[in-house]
Order: sequence, then C-alpha cells, then structure tokens
Amino acid sequence: MRLAPSILTADFLNLGAAIGAVAQADEIHLDIMDGHYVPNLSFGPIIAKAVRKATDLNLTAHLMVTDPDFMAPWFVEAGCSLVVVHAEASTHLHRSLQNIKSLGAEAGVALNPSTPLDVLEYIAHDIKRVLLMSVNPGFGGQLFIPAIYDKIKKLVKLRRDWNCSFEIEVDGGVNLDNVGMLAQVGVDIAVVGSAVFGPGEPGERLQQLRHQVTESQAHLERRK
Ligand code: DX5
Ligand code: ZN
Repeated sequence: MRLAPSILTADFLNLGAAIGAVAQADEIHLDIMDGHYVPNLSFGPIIAKAVRKATDLNLTAHLMVTDPDFMAPWFVEAGCSLVVVHAEASTHLHRSLQNIKSLGAEAGVALNPSTPLDVLEYIAHDIKRVLLMSVNPGFGGQLFIPAIYDKIKKLVKLRRDWNCSFEIEVDGGVNLDNVGMLAQVGVDIAVVGSAVFGPGEPGERLQQLRHQVTESQAHLERRK
C-alpha cells in the first residue's frame, strides 16, 4: 500500500522543508477547500505550483469545492497529474471526468462517508482512482470512521464484479493504529495528514507508517 502525505497540516512557513522531509512518499496529496463545499478554506493553484517546483513526486488535487469543473483546470495547469472530484459536488460527473482527461490529467472520484458506492457504476471504467473519505471532509486530524472498512471491502468486490482497474484510496484519520488494517483490506493508497505532519519529524513518522504496513502485509502472507 502506497502512502500519500497531505500537506494540509504541514508548516506552511516552511513548506519546502516539509515536502523535502517526505521525499520517500509515493505522491503528495493537496487538499483544496473553497469554504463552501466544506467549512474550511485551504489553498489554491499558486501553492500547488510552488509544491510542483519543490518535488518530483506526483501531485494529486483533492477538490473539495462546489464548482469542480471551474477549478479543475487550475490544478492541471499547476502540474497535478491526478484531479479528484467529489461525486456529490459534480452535477454531471461523467462530464467533469472527461473534462479533466481532456486537459491531459487523470481523473478520480471522491465519495463522502455517507455516499453509497453505486454512483460509481457507470463511470468506473473512466477513472484512475476512487477516494473513499473516512472522515467528513474539511479538516485534518479527525477520527477514522470505522464503517468505512466495510465500504472498502465492498468496493474491492465491486471492482472485481465490474472488471475495473481503478485504485482505491482512503483519506482521513489514517494513523499508526489503523494503517496496517487498511493495507490488509485492500487499500492501494492511503492519505496521511496529521499522522505525518504533526508533532515529530515528518520523514520518521512516514517511515514508521511504512514499517507498520510492511509488518501487517508480512503477517497476512504468513497466514495464507
Ligand atoms: C480532509 C482531507 C484529508 C485530511 C487528511 O478533508 O481530505 O486529506 O486532511 O488529514 P488526516 O490524515 O489528519 O485526517
Ligand atoms: Zn484529502
């Protein structure tokens, strides 16, 4: 399972150093909040562009905004290779995804904790990734909602039934206690925010999370 640090809770006065500290990550996750779709405002394409210059890792823009069609081009232009839109925020989801792809980026769909998986059925072949929110979007540092384990397992099964290849990402409340379990239930990539950018050295915290993932996957292999 890959790990994608979210810079939302990083030290914005030393963002370059924060990104440098997680150079061993698999990609960087950018939480874009517009103060309407979620009760918080984060940052826009100017910061995304600055991050682009600070790392060679892929950037994912997670758009928590009421008008994803309007804003998606900004983040493709800023250098994000994957743009994830909330199914709940898009009026014409298929069109939103096609628009992102026509700009040359890959497209993903995010679902809030209460949103059922069936909204994915007719666009499942068009996307690179499904992002399952495991907290209500808006803030870093919230608690993981346990009902999402079941949702992940269902999505793993649906992906097989639909004969699709999208990646499954989980976002919110991932930490040392649950990262191993997430790897075991079939998550491909986990967003790690405050578990990396909190107290302590981000690079070390990322290493600890990775160690936990490796341990739990080895444990699973031994049980097979
Ligand atoms: C929540 C964001 C998440 C969040 C992750 O709205 O989408 O990416 O910042 O932070 P933690 O890992 O602290 O929940
Ligand atoms: Zn996010």
